[in-house]
Amino acid sequence: MPAIVILGAQWGDEGKGKATDLLATQHSQSGAGTQIDYVVRTSGGHNAGHTIVVNGEKYATHLLPSGILTPGATSVIANGVVVSPEALFRELDGLLERGVEVADLKVSANAHVIASYHSVVDKVTERFLGKNQIGTTGRGIGPAYSDKVNRLGIRVADIFDEKILSAKVEAALDVRNQLLAKVYNRRAIAVEAVVEELTAYADRLRPMVCDTSLLLNQALDRGETVLFEGAQATMLDVDHGTYPFVTSSNPIAGGVCTGAGIGPTRIDRVIGVIKAYTTRVGSGPFPTELFDEDGEKLQRIGGEIGVSTGRTRRCGWYDTVIARYSARVNGLTEFFLTKLDVLDTWERIPVCVGYEIDGVRHDEMPMTQSEFHRAQPVYEYFDGWGTDISGCRTLAELPANARAYVTALEEMSGAPFWGVGVGPGREQTIVVHDR
Ligand code: GDP
Ligand code: IMO
Ligand code: MG
Repeated sequence: MPAIVILGAQWGDEGKGKATDLLATQHSQSGAGTQIDYVVRTSGGHNAGHTIVVNGEKYATHLLPSGILTPGATSVIANGVVVSPEALFRELDGLLERGVEVADLKVSANAHVIASYHSVVDKVTERFLGKNQIGTTGRGIGPAYSDKVNRLGIRVADIFDEKILSAKVEAALDVRNQLLAKVYNRRAIAVEAVVEELTAYADRLRPMVCDTSLLLNQALDRGETVLFEGAQATMLDVDHGTYPFVTSSNPIAGGVCTGAGIGPTRIDRVIGVIKAYTTRVGSGPFPTELFDEDGEKLQRIGGEIGVSTGRTRRCGWYDTVIARYSARVNGLTEFFLTKLDVLDTWERIPVCVGYEIDGVRHDEMPMTQSEFHRAQPVYEYFDGWGTDISGCRTLAELPANARAYVTALEEMSGAPFWGVGVGPGREQTIVVHDR
């Protein structure tokens, strides 16, 4: 049967990798007919960093779908992704060197390409923005998507025709080089160098390339199971996030349709992954952010360091306004709450239930970004549980206060909780509503 979407409900790093791995293995262990057949990335690029812990071994995926570690499933990089061939093969080789049996991998012919100049432009632009910088990952994501929308992008299929590739690179660099040289005072980039850089990957890439929209729709027609693995998150969505402090794609559920070439009617479940507190990397507003000992403690106990860039993540309390907003814009059928165990040692846990903005109470996301920048959290307080919960496998095993915390969050978040994470390991999960 189904098409299942897993996505980030906050500002990223919620534990999407673990949720994907869990669902993929749960399905593959539950017998015939429920095997996960495809794990698909539909937006973003190697700005993502997903951690998966299997038998105590830690793996990080960036551009590759986390399903690359699931034997028997085909991994797909669909048309909405921006693909750096250099990052793709570096990541694949890294896994192969560790002796990992990697899954079959397909790449859309229509996916846009990130060349090294995109990353150059990303970094130069950030430097130029100074105090207004977004805090991007510097991976060239924004410049690659802007080329795409500007109709100056290079697609994967172009790599296989040197003549077409040269013409497209020339057109793309025409404007970029003017900017680099005249505005940013940088050296112009040579067309031949970019063509050479990209064609070097042609032979290795060719067998992976296909029409992934056709592949996935045919799989769904046959009743196979397709898992769409989100990267980034709702609050980083270019339309629905905290613009301009966002990424340059649509990581919300709607982006899965455009990013994979499937219709919305094909999607059965949309799971929002959400932490039991909140984190954010890079610049931008964050109403429940903590600048005190609690923030430092969340960062330390939660191990809140970026997988891609090694940056310390900003930390704050759980925000039910954001949860309800995510439930709404994604049409979530359920949430997967992660990292509850990180809160084990607090005596009292604040939860943001609404905002006060210019003296007015808001229960829903305010209409404008400038209001969101001024939002002051309104907190309700919950008693902590003071016990290690990492060994709990059912809700009944949780201490009463932890159960009360989970129940309260669920009631205020706008969709039922499917699972609760109590540790980084796949097995350290409480499945609440097994479906
Ligand atoms: P993603 O980008 O959404 O896949 O998340 P990241 O991998 O960037 O960050 C999530 C981090 O939390 C990783 O280090 C995971 O191993 C870890 N993690 C996931 N779920 C849990 C959980 O329930 N408890 C704890 N303690 N760690 C978790
Ligand atoms: P995963 O998939 C957290 C953030 C960057 C920056 C903004 C724009 O691991 O959850 P970009 O390089 O995309 O142009 O940067 O978006 N960002 C992420 N933050 N997790 C991610 O991915 C992110 N991907 C991008 O920090 O603020
Ligand atoms: Mg991450």
